[in-house]
Amino acid sequence: MARKMVLTIAVFALFLAAVRSGDSSSDESQHYLKMPEKIDDMSRRLSEVEIERRINQILAQMTLDEKIGQLQQTSGVNGGDFLPETAALARAGLLGSVLNIRGAHITNTLQRHAMQSRLKIPLVYGFDTIHGYRTLFPIPLGETATWDRDAVELAASIAATESRATGIHWTFAPMVDVMRDARWGRIMEGSGEDVFLGSEMAKARVRGFQGDDYSRPDKVMACAKHFAAYGAAEAGRDYNTVDMSERRLREIYLPPFQAAVEAGVGSFMTAFNELNGVPATGNKWLLRDVLRDEWKFDGLVVSDWDAVIEMNAHQYSANDSEAARYALNAGTDMEMNSRSVAQHGRQLVENGKVSVTVIDNAVRNVLRAKFRLGLFDNPYVDERLENSTFLKPEFLQAARNITARSLVLLKNENHTLPISKHIRRIAVIGALGSTPNETLSHWSADARPSESITILQGIRAKLPDTNVIYEKGCEVYCTTDKDFAEAVEAVNYAGFAIVVVGEPKEYSGEAGSRSMIGLPGRQLDLLKRIKETGKPFVVVLMNGRPMTIEWVAENAPAILVTWRAGTMGGHAIADVLFGDVNPSGKLPMSFPRNLGQIPIHYDMKNTGRPIDKSSATLDQRYRSKYLDVANDPLYTFGFGLSYTTFAFENFTLNTTTLTADESLGIRVEVVNTGNREGEEVVQLYLRDVASSITRPVRQLRGFRKINLAVQERKRVDFVLTRRDLGFLDKQWKLKVEAGTFEVYIGNSSDTIMMKTFTVTTTKIF
Ligand SMILES: *[C@@H]1O[C@H](CO)[C@@H](O)[C@H](O)[C@H]1NC(C)=O
Ligand SMILES: *[C@@H]1O[C@H](CO)[C@@H](O)[C@H](O)[C@H]1NC(C)=O
Ligand SMILES: *[C@@H]1O[C@H](CO)[C@@H](O)[C@H](O)[C@H]1NC(C)=O
Ligand SMILES: *[C@@H]1O[C@H](CO)[C@@H](O)[C@H](O)[C@H]1NC(C)=O
Ligand SMILES: *[C@@H]1O[C@H](CO)[C@@H](O)[C@H](O)[C@H]1NC(C)=O
Ligand SMILES: *[C@@H]1O[C@H](CO)[C@@H](O)[C@H](O)[C@H]1NC(C)=O
Ligand SMILES: *[C@@H]1O[C@H](CO)[C@@H](O)[C@H](O)[C@H]1NC(C)=O
Ligand SMILES: *[C@@H]1O[C@H](CO)[C@@H](O)[C@H](O)[C@H]1NC(C)=O
Repeated sequence: MARKMVLTIAVFALFLAAVRSGDSSSDESQHYLKMPEKIDDMSRRLSEVEIERRINQILAQMTLDEKIGQLQQTSGVNGGDFLPETAALARAGLLGSVLNIRGAHITNTLQRHAMQSRLKIPLVYGFDTIHGYRTLFPIPLGETATWDRDAVELAASIAATESRATGIHWTFAPMVDVMRDARWGRIMEGSGEDVFLGSEMAKARVRGFQGDDYSRPDKVMACAKHFAAYGAAEAGRDYNTVDMSERRLREIYLPPFQAAVEAGVGSFMTAFNELNGVPATGNKWLLRDVLRDEWKFDGLVVSDWDAVIEMNAHQYSANDSEAARYALNAGTDMEMNSRSVAQHGRQLVENGKVSVTVIDNAVRNVLRAKFRLGLFDNPYVDERLENSTFLKPEFLQAARNITARSLVLLKNENHTLPISKHIRRIAVIGALGSTPNETLSHWSADARPSESITILQGIRAKLPDTNVIYEKGCEVYCTTDKDFAEAVEAVNYAGFAIVVVGEPKEYSGEAGSRSMIGLPGRQLDLLKRIKETGKPFVVVLMNGRPMTIEWVAENAPAILVTWRAGTMGGHAIADVLFGDVNPSGKLPMSFPRNLGQIPIHYDMKNTGRPIDKSSATLDQRYRSKYLDVANDPLYTFGFGLSYTTFAFENFTLNTTTLTADESLGIRVEVVNTGNREGEEVVQLYLRDVASSITRPVRQLRGFRKINLAVQERKRVDFVLTRRDLGFLDKQWKLKVEAGTFEVYIGNSSDTIMMKTFTVTTTKIF
């Protein structure tokens, strides 16, 4: 009874009322949507000391087989149901976790089997809740384009609420891999090219999924993945080899993982790839030396799907027994799907290849996660609350809001956008814009196409009095031009077109790598035919990655990047197209001009022969450049237009000299100089002019998204500390070095508003 009341309060407490920041002098904490209230007595979490005591108590009673059983995670196949074998293992106490099973009733049913086992250790259920469960938010790359930590946190917290209600305890998210090769399909699942933005988003997502206590009935345990450097797969081909210097690894690929640890993430997942010759799942240096010893992580490490036995294919282990041994000894606690530990663990211990201590510590990590999730006190979920927790109006409202703010306006010649709502006729072209399952993504959890809004539906709902004419032009994969004529006719008749082009959802996501990242099929031909009509048109891009769209950039009057926009995508996109929302997204990843520029990212090194941007490139033969394409991307990191304009004024530093111990205060005023309310992302970049280890040309070191009414002025303050000014020295210690720095403030990574300051001392921290 008490439990029921607690749960009711929990769900009731999750209201997301709008709260306007009243403070206009500084926007340090502009909470535009309120986070769920924290209610202390909802926590089932024991103290950490009590948890360790209980773990030891249980461990002392466990047989070796029961211990090994805890290290196994199997899949709840059969469309979310479970196999009889899974129930039998659970009853025998020989299973630690199940993934992919969900649904309050079915998870409870399986859990009852586990609770009949000798030691009554509950199962922990994992699932890929990546960007929403039933209420789908934009893909993580799109969420990141909001540049709004609170929005990203809120999306994760709603995803957690819906997931936990359906019996899921643990999500395999966030993916915090830095990625610089847009061919890679999993680009959609991450935060883009930048270390700082990626780290901030990693923390926001961990906070959103877990809160500060994931035993709560509206929270799940998060999982930082894929450890490590999966985003650097050679040539962007999924699962491919990674070989890189420790410096690059520590400067670029590891920081978002460390940020996740600092935010309290409960688990880690090992990467599929090998790193410098050792598969991540068997990589003791990564899993023990860095993760446990340096970062003091005490959570759970799970392998990726079959990644333990894939060490055979990597030509690292000779057979499953060796694979299990390498994984365990390296520090992989739990094996996902494959069963090498379950099959060979006992023999490995008996032969002395794996010590009991290694097994015990892995089991401790599993049990600790289960305690932190509150599962020993309540292994079940309230089945009565499940359905009413999905798709709540406030969740949909948040999704619409966040989605609209994730869209990036790349071009808007002569104010083509926003379109007047009084337009009499309008043509909507493109099957992507009217196919319900295409509003979702390759990782859509249990979001349903029937519950999502297509672009066509969103536009029709927005324009009840307009003649909205739809022609597909071609199917989603656009293999033929046989229906182009109808599309052209519709555009001619309507006089204005919204053309939805881009990638089908299956063209990104896991194993969704592409060797070319332009518009697939005949879509470019379709656009050329529409261009020939001479009628104005807007290109709405649906994309799981940056794409090469040079022709579109030159020829389309307006371009709106919409990623994969999720459940409320159609409404949110219509909100922006017709001016109810002023676009404010900024690119989290550069859009290259062509494929040959990849990898391309704003924080490159300068080289000894950088090009001189002020002189013609033809005069610069012996410079670091291509003969056939510029060095800069088509659209750079941090770029995105608005329907209004902003000016940055009174940029000041509170000092121009400081010591290595001191912090620098930076202030700028932003004014909305246009004629509409709008949001701007104030971005701060730093350049270390000379240092004993070369630094990138500039690095993002701060950002803040602010809302400004017409003519409104807001002051934005940043503080740079030694963590921002320093870099890792040769012993991997943080070092701030004396010298000159340049600090840049503006609206994208190529801003030129700059001030210099000097650090007068050198110090290693
Ligand atoms: C998002 O929600 C907040 C709070 O309700 C509101 O102030 C803001 O205008 C909304 N933005 C959009 C684009 O809907
Ligand atoms: C696995 O391979 C190793 C090394 O070749 C060998 O010693 C061991 O007997 C093999 N184990 C099994 C179970 O095949
Ligand atoms: C939840 O909804 C499903 C259909 O979507 C239905 O089968 C099930 O009975 C409902 N559960 C409860 C407890 O009402
Ligand atoms: C998406 O829906 C279309 C029909 O609307 C169907 O033909 C197609 O198979 C679906 N694709 C996927 C991946 O489910
Ligand atoms: C924008 O305006 C310029 C100058 O009037 C004109 O040359 C150009 O064609 C216009 N572009 C579009 C897309 O309307
Ligand atoms: C960014 O700021 C620069 C300099 O103030 C300005 O010229 C440019 O139009 C702005 N760009 C965007 C996308 O707002
Ligand atoms: C801020 O900038 C504006 C516009 O450049 C200027 O008029 C004003 O005097 C400045 N304020 C301060 C405090 O410098
Ligand atoms: C500048 O601002 C920083 C951050 O607030 C502060 O720590 C520092 O003492 C200030 N320096 C001066 C010279 O006022």
